[in-house]
Amino acid sequence: MDYKEYIRVIPDFPQPGISFKDITTLLKNGEMYREAINDLKKLVADLKIDVIAGPEARGFVVGAPLAYALGVGFAPIRKSGKLPGETIEVGYDLEYGKDTLAMHTDAIVKDQNVLIADDLLATGGTIATSVNLVRQLGGNVVGAAFLIELEELNGRAKLPDIDVFTLVTYSV
Ligand code: PRP
Ligand code: MG
Repeated sequence: MDYKEYIRVIPDFPQPGISFKDITTLLKNGEMYREAINDLKKLVADLKIDVIAGPEARGFVVGAPLAYALGVGFAPIRKSGKLPGETIEVGYDLEYGKDTLAMHTDAIVKDQNVLIADDLLATGGTIATSVNLVRQLGGNVVGAAFLIELEELNGRAKLPDIDVFTLVTYSV
């Protein structure tokens, strides 16, 4: 399936020079959304997964349906100040800007096998931070799954010891 036909590319958003990969045009198509999640499910079929962790906001629209399809739990990774229970937090740099991500300290049970899921791998900052959080909680990161990879930003370099699975690759 050529998912690129369904992903809208918007130049110079949110800043000049950024070529934004807009997945809303894929998500609104029920057949394509389901097919994309099913294809991701196939990509990770050989992994042993106990729980999926996904960073808000776009990581939820990939991670939660994938967790549902696999019949495993979903642990939200949220921006600072959103989770009501006891949390751990890690700051990070984005492709454009800075942020802090948090998880509940009881989101992962020690030694659980965790797949991290998000819509997009760009610089890798978000996922490296997510890996850091999951590992601080004692989780075993078995891989990271994405709809889209922006190859030129070389996010994989920030994830040297992580198996990365992506459906669609863009050179820029
Ligand atoms: C976007 C995207 C990824 C991240 C990728 O999230 O959804 O999570 O950037 O970039 P990176 O690999 O350089 O870290 P964003 O922080 O814009 O927030 P959103 O998901 O809430 O829209
Ligand atoms: Mg995101």
